Amino acid sequence: MSKIKPSKGAPYARILGVGGYRPTRVVPNEVILEKIDSSDEWIRSRSGIATRHWAGESETVAMMSIEASGKAIADAGISPEQIGAVIVSTVSHFKQTPAVATEIADRIGAGKPAAFDISAGCAGFGYGLTLAKGMVVEGSAEYVLVIGVERLSDLTDLEDRATAFLFGDGAGAVVVGPSDEPHIGPTVWGSEGDKSETIKQTVAWDKWQVGDVSQMPLDSNGEVKFPAITQEGQAVFRWAVFEMAKVAQQALDAAGISPEDLDVFIPHQANMRIIDSMVKTLKLPEHVTVARDIETTGNTSAASIPLAMERLLATGQAKSGDTALVIGFGAGLVYAATVVTLP
Ligand SMILES: CC(C)(COP(=O)(O)OP(=O)(O)OC[C@H]1O[C@@H](n2cnc3c(N)ncnc32)[C@H](O)[C@@H]1OP(=O)(O)O)[C@@H](O)C(=O)NCCC(=O)NCCS
Repeated sequence: MSKIKPSKGAPYARILGVGGYRPTRVVPNEVILEKIDSSDEWIRSRSGIATRHWAGESETVAMMSIEASGKAIADAGISPEQIGAVIVSTVSHFKQTPAVATEIADRIGAGKPAAFDISAGCAGFGYGLTLAKGMVVEGSAEYVLVIGVERLSDLTDLEDRATAFLFGDGAGAVVVGPSDEPHIGPTVWGSEGDKSETIKQTVAWDKWQVGDVSQMPLDSNGEVKFPAITQEGQAVFRWAVFEMAKVAQQALDAAGISPEDLDVFIPHQANMRIIDSMVKTLKLPEHVTVARDIETTGNTSAASIPLAMERLLATGQAKSGDTALVIGFGAGLVYAATVVTLP
């Protein structure tokens, strides 16, 4: 017989506040076209992207996260000291250790909360949200700050015409806290490691890791290329279109929600054609507001869902209390989908 007292958490959890930070520099397709043979028309029609934000020197992963977190904490109506845990999802913070989460926790004035980073690519927000919900319900933290943040411009090969136009920078954050009713549904999540090679950092990274810097590829200026993200665009596209609609449907079923009950759909912002295809396959009714933030934000990986959520609420396209399906998917390959009530 165990002698350990059970931990006491809240009956349920919900998202209490959301905040976003977009770097000040807006980059139109014309800038991308300086380095690749393409056209504004091709980029818009194949991806839906017109502009994206690129971070300046001072807009670091920590700085963007702190800005987004401040807004999310204010939106939640709590004070930073009440945060019991900080989870940062990112693939573009270039220190394996220490985690950037501890610096962010300190700089927002949260005191000494648990703080750690996770790597789950474009599903990172859903992974963080699921951990946060578990912590609130289990009782190890009353309020959890979940941040999705990327500086993907640092990981973009501007001479690779398959990826140069896709990625953007930014941070989105939510506060998850206690609730008397279920406002975050069951998460349908998983991984398909047999497809781990379809989105990855380039071979240069492997060479760098064994220390042979001389073998790293050079760009046209003779400078060492930073190990950029490459992908098998079509394979990822097909996977997203066929498999992720099924996962989204499973998340609706798990939450006991029909498409008619839904107010908002916030898929990961990877490609407008993927978004359109999912809307069709899921047979979402006309009244469902669909996040199409990709047009002006590009693909910001872990930041894309909270950034899109924040913009829908800020522009009045969605409102507090709306029921939203969120689904993230990407490098791993990994995915996570759940139904939430908007803060
Ligand atoms: C990247 C992506 C937009 C490319 O679109 P696509 O329709 O698959 O393009 P393809 O790679 O099949 O190329 C189609 C044609 O356009 C050409 N092309 C490729 N990149 C181009 C560019 N930047 N400009 C102009 N033409 C281009 C190709 O050479 C090819 O020409 P061809 O038909 O003469 O051979 C798309 O594959 C995609 O969005 N994939 C998923 C991305 C994603 O979600 N990634 C992250 C997941 S988190």
